[in-house]
Amino acid sequence: MKISVIGAGNVGATCADVLAQKDAASELVLLDIKDGLAEGKALDLWQSAPINRFNTRPLGVTSDYEATKNSDVVVITSGLPRKPGMSRDDLITTNAGIVKTVTENIIKYSPNTTIIVVSNPLDVMTYQAFLSANLPKNRVMGMAGVLDTGRYRAFLAQELNVSPKDIQAILMGGHGDTMVPLPRYTTVSGIPVTELMDKEKLDTIIERTKFGGGELVKLMGTSAWYAPGSAAARMAEAVARDQKRLLPCCVKLEGEYGLKDVFVGVPIVLGGGGVEQIIELDLTDDEMQLLHKSSDAVKEMMDILDKK
Ligand code: NAI
Ligand code: 2OP
Repeated sequence: MKISVIGAGNVGATCADVLAQKDAASELVLLDIKDGLAEGKALDLWQSAPINRFNTRPLGVTSDYEATKNSDVVVITSGLPRKPGMSRDDLITTNAGIVKTVTENIIKYSPNTTIIVVSNPLDVMTYQAFLSANLPKNRVMGMAGVLDTGRYRAFLAQELNVSPKDIQAILMGGHGDTMVPLPRYTTVSGIPVTELMDKEKLDTIIERTKFGGGELVKLMGTSAWYAPGSAAARMAEAVARDQKRLLPCCVKLEGEYGLKDVFVGVPIVLGGGGVEQIIELDLTDDEMQLLHKSSDAVKEMMDILDKK
């Protein structure tokens, strides 16, 4: 299996690092537009192989898409990250141009690949990649829910003083302040979280999760990479190894949850076939309303892209 990661910045390099440490692919390519950056990061990563004990020898290239030829999975992280005071939506114009060019180049060499978009604003960039790739809808998806649930689960683990490994959760909607955490589907080793935590504390954690990306931008002056890169790697690995993981991912809906022609986060089964199933949960009226509100926010941004 061959995985290519486009963009060797903070998120792309972290994603490549996690993939290499898991030996998730037989070939791993890192590509960036900045001269020497991907080559340097790939070399540095390779020099960590004897220390971290993995076999994958990553190949770094500058804008050489031929090196990505016949990739089974491509992760797109190229684009500007969010700066303080900048919303994800501010990024739309610049990053749409980048995602379009990158996707066209990928498809030229890997016409049957599976694309995982990371660039922001996530849901709209996934739409842009879908438009430019001309692939079936199950082959183009976005990473946000795995990251957002990661944040939610980390906050819950901290509050409950339990291992993050034992927290399961699902989140839906767009990657933004309108995301829809679902306490009803949150458990600690099968125990409903509502039995372990009062509503007030849980609501505080849900609010913190919604603004989790912004919290890190404020602290660091740029957006996060460890959790985002790991989340993208987890998805790429699920496809490359046909793991059939049930994960929240941004996909094109065609009637599911009463939503049509919109890219939002829902639970899916992710495997060698890409998006193999979309899981339709039996949402309450309130949850459904929140999901539709989130989808409306994404649709507004998709309209901006359509009008360009
Ligand atoms: P970064 O600035 O560290 O890296 C971006 C890389 O993309 C740079 O090395 C740049 O040279 C490269 N690049 C720009 N144009 C390119 C092109 N046309 N072809 C190939 N490479 C190109 O940024 P970072 O922190 O890695 O973030 C990357 C993107 O991921 C941003 O849009 C950010 O907002 C987004 N992001 C999304 C998350 C999510 O949950 N979906 C989470 C975190 C970041
Ligand atoms: C994040 O959530 C900014 O989307 C990026 O960290």
